Amino acid sequence: MRYPDEVIEEIRMKNDIVDVISGYVRLQKKGSSHFGLCPFHNEKSPSFSVSGGKQMYYCFGCGAGGNVFTFIMNYENYTFAEAVKMLADRAGIRLPEIEYSEEMKRKENYRARLLEVNKEAAKYFYYQLRAPQGNTGLKYLQGRQLSEETIRKFGLGFSNKTSDDLTLYLRQKGYEDKLIQDAGLAGFDEKYGMHDKFWNRVMYPIQDINHRVIGFGGRVMGEGNPKYLNSPETQIFDKSRNLYGLNFARTARAGNIILCEGYMDVISMHQAGFSQAVASLGTAFTPGQASLLRRYTENVLLAYDSDDAGVKAALRAITILKEAGLTGRVISMTPYKDPDEFIKNLGREAFQERIDSAENSFIFEVRMLERDYDLKDPDQKTRFYKEIARRLCGFAEEVERDNYLEAVADKYHIGFDNLRKLVGSYAAQTGLARPVERPKSGVKAKNTPEENAKKIQKLLLTWITDEPSLYGKIRKYISARDFTLDLYRQVAQKLFADIENGNYSPAGIISMFEEEEEQREVASIFNARLEAVNTRQEREKAFRDLLTGVKKNSLKYYSENLGRDINALNQVIEAKRALEELEKTHISLD
Ligand code: GTP
Ligand code: MN
Repeated sequence: MRYPDEVIEEIRMKNDIVDVISGYVRLQKKGSSHFGLCPFHNEKSPSFSVSGGKQMYYCFGCGAGGNVFTFIMNYENYTFAEAVKMLADRAGIRLPEIEYSEEMKRKENYRARLLEVNKEAAKYFYYQLRAPQGNTGLKYLQGRQLSEETIRKFGLGFSNKTSDDLTLYLRQKGYEDKLIQDAGLAGFDEKYGMHDKFWNRVMYPIQDINHRVIGFGGRVMGEGNPKYLNSPETQIFDKSRNLYGLNFARTARAGNIILCEGYMDVISMHQAGFSQAVASLGTAFTPGQASLLRRYTENVLLAYDSDDAGVKAALRAITILKEAGLTGRVISMTPYKDPDEFIKNLGREAFQERIDSAENSFIFEVRMLERDYDLKDPDQKTRFYKEIARRLCGFAEEVERDNYLEAVADKYHIGFDNLRKLVGSYAAQTGLARPVERPKSGVKAKNTPEENAKKIQKLLLTWITDEPSLYGKIRKYISARDFTLDLYRQVAQKLFADIENGNYSPAGIISMFEEEEEQREVASIFNARLEAVNTRQEREKAFRDLLTGVKKNSLKYYSENLGRDINALNQVIEAKRALEELEKTHISLD
């Protein structure tokens, strides 16, 4: 979905960044900027700056930065489109209707009706729980020590023993049988006609991140099979791309998300104050859910059952998290079965301690692996070590591999060098990874030429943003093509064009990019720290050095790309000319 650029720009301009951020962070004016405590990392003294002039924010502590859209995306965990909507509302701007085809409209309509019928069903279950016929359900939930507030927050309900009361209710509300069936709320067969899917169960409405009910889980009362019955997948219910509790967890800001196995675990964790808990939906954790989590955190803690099935599920989840680039750690539940039991017995503080001491997932994997070997038997012991070596080869980074190697060697008394040899020979045999190399000397590596090139390009762009009138003086020598990083080139192109057209607006440039990561990077381009140089002479020299540096890098870059880029030759000739001319010219900063 894309709105026209003018609309995006209008919304941005009608939401003053200082105003908007003041709603979230206490700001104090200092010079031309406002400062406050950064909401994106922990700090005691303010390094979070908001500039009304630039309509941007930037944290000198953690590098978070962007325009008003970036802030809302980052703070509320919204997508770009969601942030645009929210700020449009705030400024009272009507968003234009996006053109849909007839087919899309029909589909969208039907989805809306499915959501509606689910909401109606959730309401129905909710009232049943409080009616006399729902008393078993209410007693059950109270027996599990859920407070009234928790029951309400999660919208828990009850489906009666009658086999078609929900259907009758929904029909009477005007929903047709097909819709009720498509929503997974009832089935049809020749003999009995329409019959409710759920009966005699405590009902857990499953909500998407926008708090809309997309399905249900129902737990049977007493013994019965299956213990948990879930809505089937429907047009609005994709089990592999939603997580129970994420509608609350997404704004918990605990710095991590806790992944549990069951609905009940999530609920009792939230009740105990851990509102960052989520669970998969009656199926195993999926890669789709991992990438969903990646929108909110890098750190996932696993709070799975301590039984064999739980361990197996945790091991699978760890692999999936790793593939999604997330760090997983495992919370120990011993001596209890699951988080629900743990919290009931030992309470919130004890659970917090378990969170703080959660085990690194690799170490957890090795510890679980150990159970398959009898370490008193030399042969099995060797095989165990070899398996560890094989797994260590999975770390492509040498430093990381060495750190794990050290931790494991220590724990199993293997001897660092022995284990390292084993890893080396394993890697060489299988070609899975490069053999382990000797660590280089401890001297800190100098900045690479790439980093330097990046830095000076950034500094030059910041300088021009701060003093756009300078552009007129240097346009003879420099163009967007001299910025050799893709993102920087795009930014320079827009920035220079805007200055030429007299509608210079760096914050607007940020909204050319929809990904939060890119927006952050662009904001950092406009907020590089210029060295404190005082005299005019010093400033002029610094500016000239930057300009020459960027130009030299451009010359080098295009010389290396002569064979690959048809414009490279022109660029090289142009860069040489500009550099020669720069030698002879004085650029005044007045
Ligand atoms: P209780 O405390 O006994 O209500 O259960 P629990 O919260 O300890 O759940 P359990 O560990 O038995 O199961 C964890 C999760 O697995 C549940 O929340 C369900 O999502 C799912 N699950 C459990 N049993 C079934 C089942 O029979 N069918 C399906 N589809 N999912 C189930
Ligand atoms: Mn359980």
